[in-house]
Amino acid sequence: MGASSLSRLSQAKLQGRVAVVTGAAMGIGSAIARELAGLGAQVLIADRSQQGAEQMAHSLVEAGAEARGLACDVSDPAQVERAAQYACQTWSGIDVLVNCAGVASAPGQPYTRCTPDEWRRTLDINLMGAVHWCAAAREPLLASKSGRIINISSITGVISAPYMPAYSVSKAALISLSKVLARDLATALVTVNAVCPGYIRTPMWGELEQRGASPDTEGDVFDQRVRLLVPMQKPQTVEDVAACVGFLATDLACHITGQVIGVDGGATI
Ligand SMILES: NC(=O)c1ccc[n+]([C@@H]2O[C@H](COP(=O)([O-])OP(=O)(O)OC[C@H]3O[C@@H](n4cnc5c(N)ncnc54)[C@H](O)[C@@H]3O)[C@@H](O)[C@H]2O)c1
Repeated sequence: MGASSLSRLSQAKLQGRVAVVTGAAMGIGSAIARELAGLGAQVLIADRSQQGAEQMAHSLVEAGAEARGLACDVSDPAQVERAAQYACQTWSGIDVLVNCAGVASAPGQPYTRCTPDEWRRTLDINLMGAVHWCAAAREPLLASKSGRIINISSITGVISAPYMPAYSVSKAALISLSKVLARDLATALVTVNAVCPGYIRTPMWGELEQRGASPDTEGDVFDQRVRLLVPMQKPQTVEDVAACVGFLATDLACHITGQVIGVDGGATI
């Protein structure tokens, strides 16, 4: 018997479980999909980019995992319903749902600069996308013996970000949704948690910097934020978030529900 047999963590696996990860064609979602596939789950990559979803699934299959990619805009309930049915028909159901698809709202301060269309677009994707998926996956999650919902929120859902009002509000609402559903699904032993990444250089940040993420900063907004706001003074990585999600998906985390977990180098302390 090796020393690793002493550790439950080293033996935690997701073999035979079906995981859906939204927004997994790139960035944080793609790292989460890799982590869950690495733990043995069958993974559906659901992303608004069909090509991105298929490429990501292909790379997981090439690495020996079982994965499919599907075009799905999370803000459209009909597309979400079809994608959930696809997962259930392809495999045995849905055990793990990771709502990661998200967009940054156009920077705008004061909040009145954020147009009604921008509010609607941000909330439709960041909040309603998760609402649609939680509804579409409800029955399979209830049928699962180890149902998990993991919502990717943000530190801006915990600490308000006035330079990006719609985004900040959408992420706070996602935290609230996680707590509401955690209570709703508790007796069915389905856990629901919110994971809040801090500062991670992904394509989302490139887009934000192009749009001028804050009127009161100059130069590299990302580096300034990390230096000023992260006590550990280091940006986090997509793998840091994926490791946390991977743990929450396993049986080891069966009593962790309704929690808001920061992966942020201390930014919310
Ligand atoms: N990068 C950060 O610093 C950071 C920090 C905190 C939270 N987050 C959150 O993490 C999640 C992932 O962010 P990221 O930085 O990897 O972003 P990203 O822009 O790199 O990737 C986002 C992915 O979501 C997909 N997507 C966007 N809208 C969609 C829709 N309507 N339907 C389906 N898919 C859609 C995109 O195609 C893309 O593949 C987001 O919810 C984001 O708010 C990111």
